[in-house]
Amino acid sequence: DAGKGSYEHYMKKEIHEQSRAIQDCLRGRVDPETNHILLEELAELDLPATVQLVACGTSYHAARYGARLLREHGIAAQTFLASEYRAETVPVDEETLVIGVTQSGETADTMRALREANGAGAVTLALTNTVGSSAARECDHVCYIRAGPEIGVAATKTFASQQVALALVTGVLAETAEPAFLQGLAELPAQIQTVLENSQAQALADAYVDSDAYFFIGREYTAPVALEGALKMKEITYKHAEGFAAGELKHGPLALVTERTPVFALLTEGSRLEKTLGNVKEVQARGAPVIAVTDAPQTVERYVDHVLEVPSTHPYLTPILANIQLQLASYWLANRLGRSIDKPRNLAKSVTVE
Ligand code: AGP
Repeated sequence: DAGKGSYEHYMKKEIHEQSRAIQDCLRGRVDPETNHILLEELAELDLPATVQLVACGTSYHAARYGARLLREHGIAAQTFLASEYRAETVPVDEETLVIGVTQSGETADTMRALREANGAGAVTLALTNTVGSSAARECDHVCYIRAGPEIGVAATKTFASQQVALALVTGVLAETAEPAFLQGLAELPAQIQTVLENSQAQALADAYVDSDAYFFIGREYTAPVALEGALKMKEITYKHAEGFAAGELKHGPLALVTERTPVFALLTEGSRLEKTLGNVKEVQARGAPVIAVTDAPQTVERYVDHVLEVPSTHPYLTPILANIQLQLASYWLANRLGRSIDKPRNLAKSVTVE
């Protein structure tokens, strides 16, 4: 399972493993009879008054998604870049749950934040992929995301699994889960497969390989995906890429937009599509080509240059599908550029220095 098989790169293999990874993450954790989420690992966890999520890089983007989900369920939740977290500057007590979101469970910044939080009296939870990792051993509780080994330095399947695991944790902490959301979770592996089999992302590589920069915009649940899309693009293509909450575009980044800066716009139902369409018009007026990632192609296709479609699902889950299209777009661009996709320059899979 840890080999590349017939895939040219581990990253491509791992992108294609996402359907299976999500099945594994969900296995035995949703009771179809009672519509309840069961995370045995958290059986001993007292419901916290507040939640803080600490993470780096891609895991930070998943944490942003998780915090939004928690807040939407009435739980006070904040996200911190682990390298910026100081337990003495944020209120932490024994009713605070600090969740370290970390694929490797070894990231030095995240481990330091978790240790500090623990020292300040918080309850800690490791949300990790790695059994026996430092985070898993040192935190009070652990929830495994069960994505399986990820060899490519650029995180792909683990991001999707982190998002699903955070949705499950939210269900446990909120003591409720919408039936429509659980239905969406059950359908997610098949929908991921649909995206993988039908994606048109490869065709973009030829069209946009010579661009100056790539921008990504999203709102609400897709705002963290815009950040993640840009991070992936930077890591593996070595090209300039930036992600923004779509509303921020007019507060500065718009100055960078030209006909040589394609904009990936996350235009999905449930994440204020109409407002983001307004931002699309702003960038088009500056000549930028727009690639829509959307579950509403009929609504958006007349406003954009390309459409990468995702199936309709519960709004909490659309970002997971949308992100797969962005992973593929970065992958094919990096492939076209002949980059070292699995081992990008200057980067390590696990960053064990602060
Ligand atoms: C993502 O593609 C990178 N590999 C990087 O941002 C990574 O997510 C970050 O270093 C955090 O790693 P962790 O999840 O193992 O803590």
